[in-house]
Amino acid sequence: DWTMAGYRDEAVRRIRDQVGDGRVLCALSGGVDSSVAAALIHEAVGDRLTCVFVDHGLMRQGEADEVVAMFRDHMNLHLIHAEESDRFLSALDGVSDPETKRKTIGRLFIEVFEEKAAQIGGAEFLAQGTLYPDVIESVSFTGGPSVTIKSHHNVGGLPEKMGMKLVEPLRELFKDEVRALGRELGLPDSFIGRHPFPGPGLAIRCPGEITREKLDILRKADAVFIDQIRRHGLYDDIWQAFVAILPVKTVGVMGDGRTYDYACALRAVTSVDGMTADYYPFTHDFLGETATRIINEVKGINRVTYDITSKPPGTIEWE
Ligand code: XMP
Repeated sequence: DWTMAGYRDEAVRRIRDQVGDGRVLCALSGGVDSSVAAALIHEAVGDRLTCVFVDHGLMRQGEADEVVAMFRDHMNLHLIHAEESDRFLSALDGVSDPETKRKTIGRLFIEVFEEKAAQIGGAEFLAQGTLYPDVIESVSFTGGPSVTIKSHHNVGGLPEKMGMKLVEPLRELFKDEVRALGRELGLPDSFIGRHPFPGPGLAIRCPGEITREKLDILRKADAVFIDQIRRHGLYDDIWQAFVAILPVKTVGVMGDGRTYDYACALRAVTSVDGMTADYYPFTHDFLGETATRIINEVKGINRVTYDITSKPPGTIEWE
């Protein structure tokens, strides 16, 4: 009979077979996938695993600290916290094309990893939390001609350029299975239950040019939206929820003055695996209350919209 405990043992065995006496570097994004991959590989190879968390300056509010604390406190593994926001944000300066953003971020990840790998005296293997849907989506559009929808920066390219071999223990799994495996490995529920977060982070939730000002506004609005969702007990019913800051300023009134600030879009979807998704049917009361809070609490936003596009035809992220 198939069990998650059995799968775990099998996966550990396979990692040991592949890695032998080698050393593994794991890209930790703070998301469930890379965390579960790290936990699994840690079980397989112990202190021959080093995790690197690259803070590209595109994390959500408080996220970088939470991730580092979680891995240092909860899992006893070797973690390098690379604070690289200046490097990423300068390279992204003036870039508005979504694929160029992804490629720029992917290239800098490689740079940072090469540096960190050199710093620990080299590693033969690079671990990634690639899931089955990532593998499928970055290859082709189902049923159609081979078209890349989005180049997920955590798939392909990285290890070859770095002369490293790839360890991807979650390649056959869907998200719900990864969560079950994470529980099996003893990761805390608060962590397992977190919504997915894309590798390029807030870069793809800031359509058009990325500026530090927009990122700051986006982080604050996003934090209010997530707080609203938690307060209303909706977090676990939703696959992903976030705010996108729009590349447009609109006119508003506040008190007896005129405002000219950014518009934002709330996005929340239900999904099983991220490949298809439905927009979440919030009540009008919830939406109204959230819009009021964002406009009152976040300087720089004066208009809130709700994205009611499902996937397909939309994608979950805005870029
Ligand atoms: P889309 O926007 O294509 O997203 O419907 C499907 C799922 O993938 C995540 N996503 C990414 N994850 N690197 C990642 O690691 C990426 O470049 C990327 N783009 C999208 C997205 O958050 C959703 O969960």
